[in-house]
Amino acid sequence: MGRVEDVFEVVHRQRACRRFSEDPVDDGIVEKVLDAATFAPSAENRQPWVFVVVRDDERRSAIGALTRQAWEGGGRAHSEGRLSPALLADVETGAQGGVAGAPVLVVVCGDTRLGDRRVLAASVFPAIQNLLLAATALGLGSSLTTLPLVFGGDLASIVELPTDVLPMAVIPLGWPARPLSPPRRQPVTEKAHRETFGTPW
Ligand SMILES: Cc1cc2nc3c(=O)[nH]c(=O)nc-3n(C[C@H](O)[C@H](O)[C@H](O)COP(=O)(O)O)c2cc1C
Repeated sequence: MGRVEDVFEVVHRQRACRRFSEDPVDDGIVEKVLDAATFAPSAENRQPWVFVVVRDDERRSAIGALTRQAWEGGGRAHSEGRLSPALLADVETGAQGGVAGAPVLVVVCGDTRLGDRRVLAASVFPAIQNLLLAATALGLGSSLTTLPLVFGGDLASIVELPTDVLPMAVIPLGWPARPLSPPRRQPVTEKAHRETFGTPW
């Protein structure tokens, strides 16, 4: 899938990709995506996000092993019966090496020295969303994953984080192994209320 310029088209296409081709993603593209991430809002404009870009094979497979361990050690059991069979199968593919097979893994972290801990995640996740949208606009596959955070301490060691910097997500970046179908979402009318809760949109 090629580039998409219109922001509404981008948001309507953004979705999780969990299987990637081996084609490389150059640093220029990674930097463009990270640049978009850094234009997100954050509490007090403290910009507490930290991105560790992982390309090294050993490091990627170590992160992949944490993901697999988290999935096999409880994630799958928790998700069975909660996710649709299609989504369960896709997450399984991702957890069993699909995500770690992306040429780039971005470990997104929050720096606890920059602002109030209570709003740290709320300040990092908008940057993650910008990152996902920018990736989609460029035709890159990506997904927001948190499974490896089950072993957050190990993840922090793999990328040598200082203790003040907490890992919050792992985002694979790569070219999709096959085209992604459009995301499925409930309509606005299911989610929006007019003036007071319960009054339909
Ligand atoms: C907080 C959060 C954590 C997530 N963690 C994982 C994860 O660990 N592994 C994974 O494969 N997908 C993960 N996802 C992706 C969701 O499964 C995905 O966004 C959702 O199913 C919508 O699917 P779509 O993007 O394909 O439409 C996560 C999403 C969010 C918002």
